[in-house]
Amino acid sequence: MSRRPEAERSDWTDLDLLTRQEAYGRLQEEITETGTRLAELGDSDEAERGLLEARLRALREAAGDLTDNATTEVVMGRVQGKVALITGAARGQGRSHAVRLAEEGADVVVTDVCHDISDALPYPLASKEELDETVELVRATGRRCVAVQADVRSVTEVRAAVDAARAEFGRLDIVVANAGVMSSGSAWELSEEAWDVVVDVNLKGAWNTARAAIPWLIEAGAGGSIIMISSAAGIRGHVPYAHYVASKHGVVGLMKALSNELAPHRIRVNTVHPTGVSDTGISVGVPVEELAAREPLFALAAMNPLAPYVEPRDVSNAVLFLASDEGRYVTGLQFTVDAGSTNKP
Ligand SMILES: NC(=O)c1ccc[n+]([C@@H]2O[C@H](COP(=O)([O-])OP(=O)(O)OC[C@H]3O[C@@H](n4cnc5c(N)ncnc54)[C@H](O)[C@@H]3O)[C@@H](O)[C@H]2O)c1
Repeated sequence: MSRRPEAERSDWTDLDLLTRQEAYGRLQEEITETGTRLAELGDSDEAERGLLEARLRALREAAGDLTDNATTEVVMGRVQGKVALITGAARGQGRSHAVRLAEEGADVVVTDVCHDISDALPYPLASKEELDETVELVRATGRRCVAVQADVRSVTEVRAAVDAARAEFGRLDIVVANAGVMSSGSAWELSEEAWDVVVDVNLKGAWNTARAAIPWLIEAGAGGSIIMISSAAGIRGHVPYAHYVASKHGVVGLMKALSNELAPHRIRVNTVHPTGVSDTGISVGVPVEELAAREPLFALAAMNPLAPYVEPRDVSNAVLFLASDEGRYVTGLQFTVDAGSTNKP
């Protein structure tokens, strides 16, 4: 497929297929950026709000023109028409997954606990305001979004979120078990409270999320994709946080068993394993510099051949692939997004 120089392009219909696809992607990125600025704007700045709203309208129109004029196969989002449920989506990676899936055409149910749950966690969890902001960001892409406050330690609360997907959108295709918490300490010195909260949220929470969604996915009969966010610590024996390592390895076992159990229903189950991710609640709350200073083996674990960190969007792109039909025969996979961390000598 050849690309023509910019000067020769007259309108969207003239663009070759690859260029149209790229243009659509760029527009979606700009829509997200403008939507973010709009969501962050205070009430007082009315002039700026007007400008941003006008820009958002123009960008959406341009994306609409592009969609009208191109073949459906080429410009349709990669998860167009699907519905996703994401836990821990008020901030960090969960928010990024919600926006990325929406950019590619999914409607989204976002959930988060939205309050602190234990004194054994060294940083605050997300707020209701942050969850509402995620809703705004998803809506800024042009997709629909609903928020449900739910603690993944309670299957009843996660079921309410699944019910919301059913009531609002009439379907569910993608489930991302992303909610997670972390703390640190020598394995033999961790308090029971520290152990319990990390294992309950990270492992039992992933099980609760899966078991809340599975009956409906089976009943709907249209297959599905369950993605569980593990960690490089779900592959290697990182220190000093054995409870976190155990919980993230546990998620892998759960994924492996579920991927076999659910294959007859065309429901795929995979894990994603990020290395340190920049600017999330966990990476700010449990700083790598502190851990590295305390524990030389952690410093070794945090040394990645490609880059010291990845960004939330890098992880979201892996989630997107596993969620989309491009991954239709991918199940039981441990998908690393780790800048080479777990493969290094
Ligand atoms: N940040 C990293 O370096 C890193 C690396 C590898 C894996 N991970 C994993 O990525 C996932 C996302 O973490 P993040 O880095 O975005 O951190 P984050 O703290 O920004 O996001 C986690 C979200 O989960 C929510 N949450 C916590 N407990 C919950 C509960 N009981 N019920 C519902 N929601 C709950 C929090 O409020 C928060 O919004 C986690 O599973 C984490 O273990 C993080």
